[in-house]
Amino acid sequence: MKKINIVLFGTGNVGSKLINQVLQARESLKQKEGLELNLPVIANSTTAFFQNENQQASWEADREKFGFPYKFDDILEYVQKQKYKNLVAVDATASEEFVDHYLPLIKAGFHIVAANKVANTRSSKFYGELRAALKENNRFFFYETNVGAGLPVIETLRNFYRSNERVTKVRGVFSGSLSYIFNTYCEQERAFSEVLSEAAEKGFTEPDPRVDLSGKDVARKLLILGRELGLEKEFEEIAVQDLVPPHLNGQSSLKNFQQKKNELDPLFLELKKNLGPDEVIRHVGELDLQEGVLDVKLVKEKRSSALGSLQNVDSSFEIFTESYGEQPLVIKGAGAGAVVTARGVLTDLIKLAEKLPS
Ligand SMILES: NC(=O)c1ccc[n+]([C@@H]2O[C@H](COP(=O)([O-])OP(=O)(O)OC[C@H]3O[C@@H](n4cnc5c(N)ncnc54)[C@H](OP(=O)(O)O)[C@@H]3O)[C@@H](O)[C@H]2O)c1
Repeated sequence: MKKINIVLFGTGNVGSKLINQVLQARESLKQKEGLELNLPVIANSTTAFFQNENQQASWEADREKFGFPYKFDDILEYVQKQKYKNLVAVDATASEEFVDHYLPLIKAGFHIVAANKVANTRSSKFYGELRAALKENNRFFFYETNVGAGLPVIETLRNFYRSNERVTKVRGVFSGSLSYIFNTYCEQERAFSEVLSEAAEKGFTEPDPRVDLSGKDVARKLLILGRELGLEKEFEEIAVQDLVPPHLNGQSSLKNFQQKKNELDPLFLELKKNLGPDEVIRHVGELDLQEGVLDVKLVKEKRSSALGSLQNVDSSFEIFTESYGEQPLVIKGAGAGAVVTARGVLTDLIKLAEKLPS
């Protein structure tokens, strides 16, 4: 039986779903794959919890009882003392700072599986150092959920790149929350701010919806895909259309934005008025590999097109290559959501385990 030992950082939407999926899949993975998933350490930003066989209650109840305030080094010391093999750190945080632990983790023998996009969107220098450390220490780094949540976007592009199939363009609706907002706004006679509030209430946007509207999250995803295809770009080089006017963005508080968000309404109404009868607005990311241009913007799309006919929180990625020149390969489906993202992380863990010794 092959065993991997998972140290989970982040027990929010994605991390908590992942724990439940690991617990539910455990027996069938043992039987079907000969793989045992062990979860000896679970941590959020302040509290860690070491699981052992004596604990019988749910992991939440056990964490209540056995959790303690911790420092990052306490975890490294603990796993080294326990002599765990096949150690995997799962980054289910959204933390900029947590990524500073990646190099120490790799040097301490951990493989990494990340839902967090930060490591892949820092400077090219860091991107290179991370990959050099992985190679030097013979460790693996899986991050399929960085783009498209549970959809197999990164793997598909990587397979093209490895097999020398030239990718010329990737274009699509990269954001589930912005997909919902524009799909709804273009179908219904409602104010933009009302649709925005509804998307927030349904949990589709970040707590501060300006994070979505700024286009930065989509820009990060574009950069990750570009780098996967060998493009050497920095985040600052991406052309991003910010949908929030300057006086409501930047220095102004979230409260101020919430009070004044109806000031967005006339701006988006103007865009809607300029649409043709068979057109809709879509928020797209475009990666042009021939020109080396990365673009995040609003566009008009034919209602009948692949992007124009999207519904709900769907994302859609159109991949143009030498062989898929006129008709792109399309990957479409829910591009956000904790359950599908956690499933993607679990799939990464299983793929990683295939590469490890028993
Ligand atoms: N939700 C999606 O649809 C989706 C899709 C694709 C990718 N992702 C990515 O998945 C990641 C997690 O998303 P989420 O929605 O689960 O976020 P979330 O609900 O905000 O949870 C974040 C978790 O990370 C913990 N955390 C923060 N800093 C930490 C640190 N330094 N060490 C250990 N734990 C730390 C937080 O702890 P506290 O509770 O103590 O603050 C919290 O438990 C994000 O990077 C997100 O971009 C999400």
